Amino acid sequence: MNRFQVFPALNIGNAHIRPRRLRINKNIRSLVQENKLQKSDLIFPLFISEKGTKRYEIPSLSGIFRIPYDELLTEVEEIQKLGIKAIMLFPVIEGTKKDDYGTEAYNPEGLMQNCIRKIKETFPNMILFVDVALDPYTLHGHDGIIDEKGYVLNDETVEALCKQSLSYAACGVDFVCPSDMMDGRIAAIRTILDKDGYIGTSILAYSAKFASAFYGPFREAIASGARGLDKKTYQLNPANSREAIREAILDIQEGADMVMVKPGLPYLDILSKIKSQSEVPVVIYQVSGEYAMLKCAAQNNLIDEKAAVYESLISMKRAGADLIVTYYAKWLCENLL
Ligand code: PBG
Repeated sequence: MNRFQVFPALNIGNAHIRPRRLRINKNIRSLVQENKLQKSDLIFPLFISEKGTKRYEIPSLSGIFRIPYDELLTEVEEIQKLGIKAIMLFPVIEGTKKDDYGTEAYNPEGLMQNCIRKIKETFPNMILFVDVALDPYTLHGHDGIIDEKGYVLNDETVEALCKQSLSYAACGVDFVCPSDMMDGRIAAIRTILDKDGYIGTSILAYSAKFASAFYGPFREAIASGARGLDKKTYQLNPANSREAIREAILDIQEGADMVMVKPGLPYLDILSKIKSQSEVPVVIYQVSGEYAMLKCAAQNNLIDEKAAVYESLISMKRAGADLIVTYYAKWLCENLL
C-alpha cells in the first residue's frame, strides 16, 4: 500500500479523470491557455500639462508623469516604439482657464485640441481616445454644469459635451469617450457628429462608471477641484449591477461603438455580465487607485509586481475585456510583453 494513501476507500489511484495532466509542464500549459495578454489589448492614459517644461511625477502614481505639451511628440514616439497602439489623453489645464461652465473644453485652440492635431500630424496611426467630461475644466470639479445647490444639470451638460465632442472630432480624434454619466448623451453626441459630417468618429461610452474611491490619485493627477467630491447623483452605486447593465444597453442602443466598465478589478462581475449581452467591444479601465495599490504593495516588497500586475490584467481578459486602459501599459511592454 502506498504510504500516502490515507483514504484507501477513495481508490484515487485508479482515477481516469486527471485535470492535472494539462498542467504537467510549461509547454502544455501554454497550449491550453485560454486567454492571452497582448500589447494590442492596451490603451495608455496620458496626462498632458499646459504649463511647465518639465515632466512632473505624480506623487500618488509612482512612475506616471504629467508630460508638458512641448514634450508631447517625444512621449508619443516612445509609446509607439514600445508597440502600444492607442492612448487616452487627459488635460491638466491652467487654473485661470477654469470656470463654472467648463467652456475651455470646447475652445478650438484648447490643450486637447492642440494635442490631437499635433499627434495626428506626426503619428497618424496612433489611435487617440479623448475623455469627454467637464471636470478638468470646471472650478468645482464636477463633470457637468451645476445649479445653485450643486446638482449637475443633465441637459445643459449634454449640450456642452456635444460641443466638446464636436471640437475634438474636428481635430481628428478617433474616439470621443464620454465619462460623465449624463442621460442621453450618446444619442445627442452621435446625432451632432453625424450632422456635421464626422460619421467616422467613434464613441467609446463610459457606460458603467461607478462612484468609486479608486479615482483619488487621478483627481490629483489632473489637478481637479474634485478631490473628495461626491459624484453619486450621476455615477453608479457600487452596490448595483442591473443598473449598470441597463446603462450599457442604453448606450449601445443610442449608438456607442464600444462600452466601458470602470473601475476594473472590483467590477469584473459587471464586465462579465455586460459582455454576455453586448454586441460591441467592452473596455475596462484599471483606474488610478488600482495602479497605486499595486505599486505601493510592490515597492514595499509585499507582492511580486510582475506576477500581480499580470494576474490582475489577465483576470480582466478572462472576464471578457476586449481592451484595457491601464497606467501599467508602458511598464508592461518594458517588463513583461
Ligand atoms: C472624469 C474621469 C475620472 C477618471 C477618468 N475620467 C475621475 C472622476 O470621475 O472623478 C478616473 C480615472 C482614474 O482614476 O484613473 N470624468
